[in-house]
Amino acid sequence: MFMPRRMVLALSVVGCFLVYVAGAQPASAAASASASIEHGRYLVRIAGCNDCHTDGYNETGGKVPEKQWLMGSKLGWHGPWGTTYAPNLRLFMQTVTEAQWLTLAKSTTYRPPMPWVALHHMSTLDLSAIYSFIRYLGPAGVSAPAFVPPDQQPKGPVVQFPAPPPAASKGS
Ligand code: HEC
Repeated sequence: MFMPRRMVLALSVVGCFLVYVAGAQPASAAASASASIEHGRYLVRIAGCNDCHTDGYNETGGKVPEKQWLMGSKLGWHGPWGTTYAPNLRLFMQTVTEAQWLTLAKSTTYRPPMPWVALHHMSTLDLSAIYSFIRYLGPAGVSAPAFVPPDQQPKGPVVQFPAPPPAASKGS
């Protein structure tokens, strides 16, 4: 079949372009995954997740190697709600899919002092990034102690919150 020279040239340019696009696909998927991990690392840093979920982070001004981040803590938070412990998020994220995490993060109300209101207000993009980053860190460490109800005494160290003010002094 006869083709004018110009058409042959045009077709080969289109062909090269298609090869280029096909070749670029995996690289751009990898680039967007690594951008999401980087954004998650940034969010975890600025949203203070390490302050409670990483032992020693707050006290050392953040001088805890990243591979030890978010492994939970044995420090109890003791108040009228009982005693809570910041769970190991490296293990927790292995138990949920990204879709489950998005639903949980936007709807669950946790006990104090977990700042769940912050999670409820995060965008889907930000929550996905946090998920990608914690999954990238991978599973590590052991589970934090289980919640202790208000009528029971916790065993380890606790941060003691004051009881709510007596009803009589309310509104005065
Ligand atoms: C001031 C301390 C504190 C900070 C800051 C904090 N958390 Fe928590 N977090 C807790 C505590 C305590 C619990 C356990 C709450 C409970 O028992 O109801 C918890 C629970 C959770 C859970 C539930 C895990 C499970 O096993 O069900 C998730 C998920 C979580 N936090 C994620 C985060 C993320 C993400 C950040 C940063 C945006 C963050 N937390 C910041 C203290 C904190």
